[in-house]
Amino acid sequence: MQAIVLVGGEGTRLRPLTFGTPKPMVPIMNVPFLARTLERLYEAGIRDVILPAGYMPQAITEYFGDGSRLGMKITYVIEDEPLGTAGAIKNVEQHITGPFFVLNGDVLTSLDLQAMIDFHKQKGGLGVLHLITVEDPSAFGCVVHDENGRISQFVEKPPKGSEPTNDVNAGTYLLDPKVLEMIPPGRNVSIERETFPKVLADGHTLYAYTTNDYWIDLGRPEHYLSAHRDILTGAMPLRLEPGISGPGAAAVRNNPNLVAPLFIGEDVSIDPHAKIGPNVVLGDRCSIGANAQLTDSVLWDNVTVEEGARMDEAIVASGARIGASARIGRGSVLGHDVVIEPGAIVPEGGRVGPAAPISA
Ligand code: GTP
Repeated sequence: MQAIVLVGGEGTRLRPLTFGTPKPMVPIMNVPFLARTLERLYEAGIRDVILPAGYMPQAITEYFGDGSRLGMKITYVIEDEPLGTAGAIKNVEQHITGPFFVLNGDVLTSLDLQAMIDFHKQKGGLGVLHLITVEDPSAFGCVVHDENGRISQFVEKPPKGSEPTNDVNAGTYLLDPKVLEMIPPGRNVSIERETFPKVLADGHTLYAYTTNDYWIDLGRPEHYLSAHRDILTGAMPLRLEPGISGPGAAAVRNNPNLVAPLFIGEDVSIDPHAKIGPNVVLGDRCSIGANAQLTDSVLWDNVTVEEGARMDEAIVASGARIGASARIGRGSVLGHDVVIEPGAIVPEGGRVGPAAPISA
């Protein structure tokens, strides 16, 4: 079995983080998210992975190389222009040899891929789509199906109150190569809006595989923070020690000012009078000064927080420096190498960072 992981999006909703790091390389608990996805594929026995990329592809190719370090074969296909979710799949057609998975590159889920393969074997059809049931489907792609799982309709982002179902597309598909014949080549095509409806219109069958797995789309800052909170609290299973975890945990466990759950990277320096937690992730080589206060926040590598600075529900990209006594308002996102002057105030929901990609 092969897998295509879609990693070519610009990740506009995660800016300014994605000006310096493409979304698949954004860290989850200090490790690029794509590494977590590849681990899941490996665990399901999948060794042959195709990555259609386009936005900052070097960051991805340099980190993963040919995949041999992970015991996998990775093939990159770089798009000159974004081809959309189905166009990107059509563009890698020459590498497809049989039924294949397609994974959105920004979905964190506990879905059992092997169980999905078994479901497909039992049901047949041209493909299986993973669905989850949500309370408010208006922001998602609704997928209408009967009790057998047979899909009859796709309704993208229906207005509130007119949703035909609470079951929504969760961004993992298992497809027969015949689907490739239904994607026009050489242009931008959306699998959700165009290809899946065409498969049905041509008289083929798609099945819904609805589960109550943990699922979150990391594409928005608030979801990115929720995902970390869920991992830290155990709501999303991710083989993590409870309490204070991470490679730097042992060195700081006796500090009474730390409130679990926390994840501490390598070579982190924490002043004994800093107050950290709950739900904080510190990347490698972060430095936290005296009386600084951090709650519900994720700091990437090499972030310095000087004495008395405070932040709550913030995301801070690598290399940033928060000056003494600065206040970082709830929900703020600070980009790579940002410097916040001592005493400065970043308002709630603030976005501080470069106005364009740092490197192409
Ligand atoms: P936003 O700009 O914030 O909407 O993010 P995005 O560009 O990543 O788009 P979206 O979240 O809708 O994409 C879902 C998945 O498809 C992500 O894993 C993207 O990387 C991927 N993707 C979206 N568009 C393309 C494309 O044109 N080419 C490729 N190869 N992947 C894409």
